[in-house]
Amino acid sequence: MEAFKIGSDEHGRLLCRTFIETHRPFRAQDIVWPELDAESLARLKGLPVWDEAARTEAATAVKVQTLGETEKDPILKEAIALQGYEEGRHAEIISLLTKTYGIPTAPFGQPEKPKDPTWTFLRTGYGECLDSFFAFGLFDIGRRTDYFHEDLIALFDQIMQEEARHILFIVNWAAYLRARRPLPLRPAFDARRAWNIAAQAFDRVKGAMQMAGSGDKDKGKGTQDGFTLKSHKVFGDFTLRSFLELCLAENERRLSIYDSRLLRPFLVPGTVKLLLKVLPRNGRRGKAAG
Ligand SMILES: [Fe+2]
Ligand SMILES: [Fe+2]
Repeated sequence: MEAFKIGSDEHGRLLCRTFIETHRPFRAQDIVWPELDAESLARLKGLPVWDEAARTEAATAVKVQTLGETEKDPILKEAIALQGYEEGRHAEIISLLTKTYGIPTAPFGQPEKPKDPTWTFLRTGYGECLDSFFAFGLFDIGRRTDYFHEDLIALFDQIMQEEARHILFIVNWAAYLRARRPLPLRPAFDARRAWNIAAQAFDRVKGAMQMAGSGDKDKGKGTQDGFTLKSHKVFGDFTLRSFLELCLAENERRLSIYDSRLLRPFLVPGTVKLLLKVLPRNGRRGKAAG
């Protein structure tokens, strides 16, 4: 295996080739949706994620596709356009799933095309790095406990793996862009990137606090509470430490299959590793998993 410099043409080609060659072609409309019994259907409906997932996937598709349209380098263009296609497919899958199982979602308008597609992609990509890391762990808990129908688990496993490819692409693409900028311009790039990452992290904290707030208000009624009760049965045995360890292990496993010369996401796993050093080993049950 030949080594190369981050930002070199070889790096760019490898990151695009890896992405393109690991793409799995299938059409959302060809998915055969399994019949669900009443309990499985209630579990699926009770997940408080559908509105957000439908909106976010549709918006992300437009953001990534816009960058694909404007990118000049043919191989980068192909890889980014393919990522935009996958995001569009995620949006389509969510839409088909919610229609098939009668899960109501709030309507949303056609997402706007970004004015600065490069930085919008970077910001969105770092948001995906944050979301995917924790989603990998949560998904694995669901998989191990047979919380959902096996066909749905297989479908969502594939989507998780696509997100792993997306975050692998984004961290390498960001490093590639940075390394190709003249030295004096790199501090400005770093500052803007750090600002965008901080904004994404802040967004998640705000979202989590709002969810916790509305959870308190909704106690005793509706699907949110149903989800809390049922999910407690599934997730209740996890401490914050064991949940974070699982996220780390899953993150590692999902990314380990790609060329080791490509960079791996560092920020979220690195922060979690630091946190694990200070978290008590047999501490109280953590809120994130309990
Ligand atoms: Fe997605
Ligand atoms: Fe993605």
